[in-house]
Amino acid sequence: MAVQRTFSIIKPDATERNLTGAINAVIEKAGLRIVGQRRIQMTRAQAERFYSVHSARPFFGELVDFMISGPVVVQVLEAEDAIAKYREVMGATNPADAAEGTIRKLFAKSIGENSVHGSDSAENAAIEIAQFFSEADITA
Ligand code: TYD
Repeated sequence: MAVQRTFSIIKPDATERNLTGAINAVIEKAGLRIVGQRRIQMTRAQAERFYSVHSARPFFGELVDFMISGPVVVQVLEAEDAIAKYREVMGATNPADAAEGTIRKLFAKSIGENSVHGSDSAENAAIEIAQFFSEADITA
């Protein structure tokens, strides 16, 4: 498996509780390198575009409201098999189902306020990284 990049977001419930460093420690301990990182306030248009795949779901409105409720930290993570590796480190969407030691088990408040996002495929990783980073902002 070649070195791969994935896209991560540390969500508002986590930045609000000052957990950026604690989450980054879990990420780095798992062998993922943080090769790009920026703290931003997402606009509604950015959040709606980012989660457009979920636009027909009943939780879409709440999800967008939550994602713009405070700052987020957008990240590019790099490792061998980074996409699957980060999904494992994040844990299940619902923290009640997340495995011990995962970010969501450790820190998430609920299925909605679940602390982190990670890309679910190579195709989506490329699209999501391009939405928030230019190549010049990523340094391996
Ligand atoms: P999803 O892509 O299913 O999960 P993941 O973040 O693990 O890839 O859903 C995207 C986000 O939508 C999820 O992180 C939180 C929110 N969400 C809800 O608020 N309620 C729900 O029932 C689901 C499935 C997701």
